Parts: sequence; C-alpha cells; structure tokens
Amino acid sequence: MTKKLRFVTDKTAVLIITSVNRRYLTGFSSSLGYLLLTNKANFLFVDGRYIEAAQKQASNATVLKLENIAEQLNKIFKEQETQKLLIEVENDISTFTYLKKALIVKVSASAALSERLKALRSIKTSAEVDCVIAAQRIAERAFEEILNFIRVGVTEREIAAFLEYKMKSFGSEGFAFDTIVVSGKNSSMPHGVPTDKPIEAGDFITMDYGAVYGGYLSDMTRTVAVGHVTDEMNDVYNTVLKAQEAVIKVVKQGITCGEADKAARQVIENAGYGEFFTHSTGHGVGLEIHETPNLRSGENNQKLRAGQIVTDEPGIYLPEKFGVRIEDMLLIGKNGCKNLTKAEKRLIIL
Ligand code: GLY
Ligand code: MN
Repeated sequence: MTKKLRFVTDKTAVLIITSVNRRYLTGFSSSLGYLLLTNKANFLFVDGRYIEAAQKQASNATVLKLENIAEQLNKIFKEQETQKLLIEVENDISTFTYLKKALIVKVSASAALSERLKALRSIKTSAEVDCVIAAQRIAERAFEEILNFIRVGVTEREIAAFLEYKMKSFGSEGFAFDTIVVSGKNSSMPHGVPTDKPIEAGDFITMDYGAVYGGYLSDMTRTVAVGHVTDEMNDVYNTVLKAQEAVIKVVKQGITCGEADKAARQVIENAGYGEFFTHSTGHGVGLEIHETPNLRSGENNQKLRAGQIVTDEPGIYLPEKFGVRIEDMLLIGKNGCKNLTKAEKRLIIL
C-alpha cells in the first residue's frame, strides 16, 4: 500500500468496503469489493466481473475472487492470528451486523479510521491534481461552446443536456453531479433542477457542473446574462465576484476554513446582502464532489493544508428575483493558492 495506515498492526486488520476508499487506496474502481489490509499483505476481493481489470490495475494488493467474504476473511484471520477488524463508519448497519456475526474477530466501526482516510484524501498528489485539472479543462471547453448555444427560447433542460453532451464528447468519463442550470427567477434557488422554462431576455442563467477524468471530479459555476441586466443585477454580480476574489487573495496553508469563509461573507455583508448568502463558501473536491475540508462559517478548528483542492463559490440569492454564484477550484499552497479554473469571470451578457 502506498499510503500506509497506522491502524494496521500485527493483531488488527482493516477492511475497506466503501467504493471511494477502495478506489483511493488501490487505484481500482468497482461498485462492489472488499480491501483487506493486514500487517503482512493486502487483499482485494472482487467478483468475476472485475477480476481481470483488478489484476491489471490494483498493483498494490493481491487480487482474489470474491466468493463467501466471511469464510475468506476468517481463513486469513486464522493464518495471521488477527484479533480485531476495523471498518469505516460509513458502512450501513446491515453490513456491520453481518460482519460482526460472521467473523471470528472483534469488529469495530472506527471513526478515527474514516477521519484519517478523509484527511489523506484531502491532500492531493500531483497526479491527482493533474486529473482534476484535466476534468476542469473539459468543463471549460463545454463552457465556451455553451456561450454560442444559449439564446432566448432554449430551455434550462436543453442547456444542461448540451453541457453534458459536450463534456462527454470532450472526454469526460461521466458527470461530477447532476448538472444545475437555473434561469431568471429560478436562479434564486442555489441548487435548483433544470426545467423546461425557456430563457428570456433579462435572465441570469447560473450553470453549475463538472466533468470527470481519471476518476477525479471538477466543479465550476458561472452565471451569465441574456440581453440586458438591471443595475441591481449588475451590483449583485459584482459583489459576488468581489467576494469570490477575496477568498483567492487570503487562502493558503494555515488559515482556518472559517477565515476563508469569512473573506467572502464579509464582502457580501458589507454590500448589504449578507442574509442572501445562504450556504458555505466552499468544499474539498476529488474522487467525490464534497470532500474535506469544508469552508464554512465558524469552522475555526480546521486549518487549510497545502495540496488541498477547494471550491470558492459564494453566491447571492434574492427570492423571486434572481441569484448569482461564481465558483472556481483553488489548489492550496504554502504561501497562497493556484486557481485551477480559467473560464472568464467578468459578467458575460449574451
Ligand atoms: N457544485 C455542486 C456543489 O457544490 O454542491
Ligand atoms: Mn461546488
């Protein structure tokens, strides 16, 4: 295992069941499987659908055909005189109950193990950063294309479908999450679902979407206008942009997540829109769309660390009027951050 877990000892083994952590530790992705880590060896159990691919891709574990997992684990535990097994707390209760009953060792769901994996996953290697950037470049190419597609009369759903079609065409392995496209009054709902509403002149359109490359996700949001904007729309847009840029100026290793959030929130509060910024400022991104850390108000125990990738996505949402969100991904460094997002942020009026 390239990433040694201190939880594994002579007497204690670790069983990784969640697909995201199995993927992280072995480099091999499968919907079902078990990764057993012991002091002597690592075993990846997968069923017949995955055996060949796993043998090629999971270079740091012995790949075994999954048959009866309890019997297979018990055999290893006997051979290695294992006494205890730790599993992640994210497993459902039926998995935990089954293992507890069927295994000859003491089974515990370990919050410390889960936290350690989250912390490890939050610091990206350069290969992981390259995957996130590759995903982001795909999303940006789709953004360039969407600017030529958007016009009065096309629907939110058509815009979402076009973005997804373009991302797939440009090499995305899937979508980071359900694409959000909201326009006009709908844009005051930060995570609204695209509808059949046609775009009208004077609408803001918020598009929040991401691509996938090498298993890693990207996340970006842009808000564009169609036809014209009011003074209020202009003011809100520029306030969000200022807030978003304030975060870029302050984030670096050592500042707290609360301080990063405050940089954005302060700008929006000073402009009088504080109550309309209704979510946290950002989150980690990697194999999952929401990872550690969480840039939220008052989160002062957690400090940012070099190598983390976080989103920076303040927004202002005026109910029954419109909303604006702008989102980039930032790679935290020792003395500042690198913006991984290159798409235009000045207000685009189509
Ligand atoms: N961009 C989707 C999210 O952050 O939840
Ligand atoms: Mn996001």
